[in-house]
Amino acid sequence: MQALDNFCRGSRANLAEFATHPRFTVHEIDLADEGPVTELVGRLHSQVPIDEVWHLAANSDIPAGIADPNVDLRDTFLTTFNVVNAMKVTGIPKILFASTSAIYGDLGATVLQEDVGPLFPISSYGAMKLASEGVISAAVESSLQQALIFRFPNVIGVPATHGVLLDFARKLRKDPMRLEVLGNGTQQKGYLHVSDLVDAMLHLRNSVTRKLDVFNIGAVDEGVSVRTIAEEMVALAAPQARLEFGTSSKGWVGDVPRFRYSVQKLLDTGWRPAMGSHLAMKRAMAEVAAQEGLL
Ligand SMILES: NC(=O)c1ccc[n+]([C@@H]2O[C@H](COP(=O)([O-])OP(=O)(O)OC[C@H]3O[C@@H](n4cnc5c(N)ncnc54)[C@H](O)[C@@H]3O)[C@@H](O)[C@H]2O)c1
Repeated sequence: MQALDNFCRGSRANLAEFATHPRFTVHEIDLADEGPVTELVGRLHSQVPIDEVWHLAANSDIPAGIADPNVDLRDTFLTTFNVVNAMKVTGIPKILFASTSAIYGDLGATVLQEDVGPLFPISSYGAMKLASEGVISAAVESSLQQALIFRFPNVIGVPATHGVLLDFARKLRKDPMRLEVLGNGTQQKGYLHVSDLVDAMLHLRNSVTRKLDVFNIGAVDEGVSVRTIAEEMVALAAPQARLEFGTSSKGWVGDVPRFRYSVQKLLDTGWRPAMGSHLAMKRAMAEVAAQEGLL
């Protein structure tokens, strides 16, 4: 197995568990640079044929992409464009792609099923993921044998590189007496533990035979409010901390504070998450607090 990452947001330490595995190699490369990507993928494929690519690299910092859309152009879109192009040049047949609920934009009370539309994303991250889905779809017509697109909203667990739990944990480590919450705390989202996400993706990879397919992957409940997460994180890691909420119903520009996410298509394949949003949150909270040295 070959892992390609430039470690702009991830780290080698996150891969330490696999570092000594004889069939696992890490290559430090910027996937936004077309020539080197095509060259490396071609070379690796000629050494040991590559059957499939799991394309997970992206900008995971949505506010960073709002501040400077070039971040998403490069890290969210060009990474996909170049990976797909390298697969075409090299003849690798199958891609599994980490997309996002952000491609739906803010559709209010509309139930977000995979076939809802038209789609108007409200963050450059969502826009570049939607464009990435388009590039993959076009490549299925011309070269790829199979593409599975997974759209997930909020994944939690460790190693954490971003997200609400890491934000809270780092703020409390800096100042155990106060916790600033982005938004007024009423944002409510479903949360999926990373162990369930991996399980769902492998299940789909092993069972779906259609040439091009897309699945929402997420929790099967109404989710957890940001206020609940903040209160439980404080109770766990810094009981003296005072909560300071913002005034907006959104956490940041491009945030979708509430949405109705349908995972019925996934459930119809026979898969169910082991944990609901609240249990996943509890488990990940302890994991992230430990990662950040708070416990
Ligand atoms: N975590 C979530 O809640 C969530 C939700 C929806 C979708 N996703 C998607 O899942 C995937 C994984 O997300 P994550 O939460 O593990 O984020 P992450 O930031 O931990 O992982 C993304 C990785 O991509 C790498 N990367 C970024 N730009 C690169 C570039 N130009 N060249 C090479 N490597 C590059 C980063 O260094 C990082 O290791 C991403 O595609 C993300 O958009 C995540």
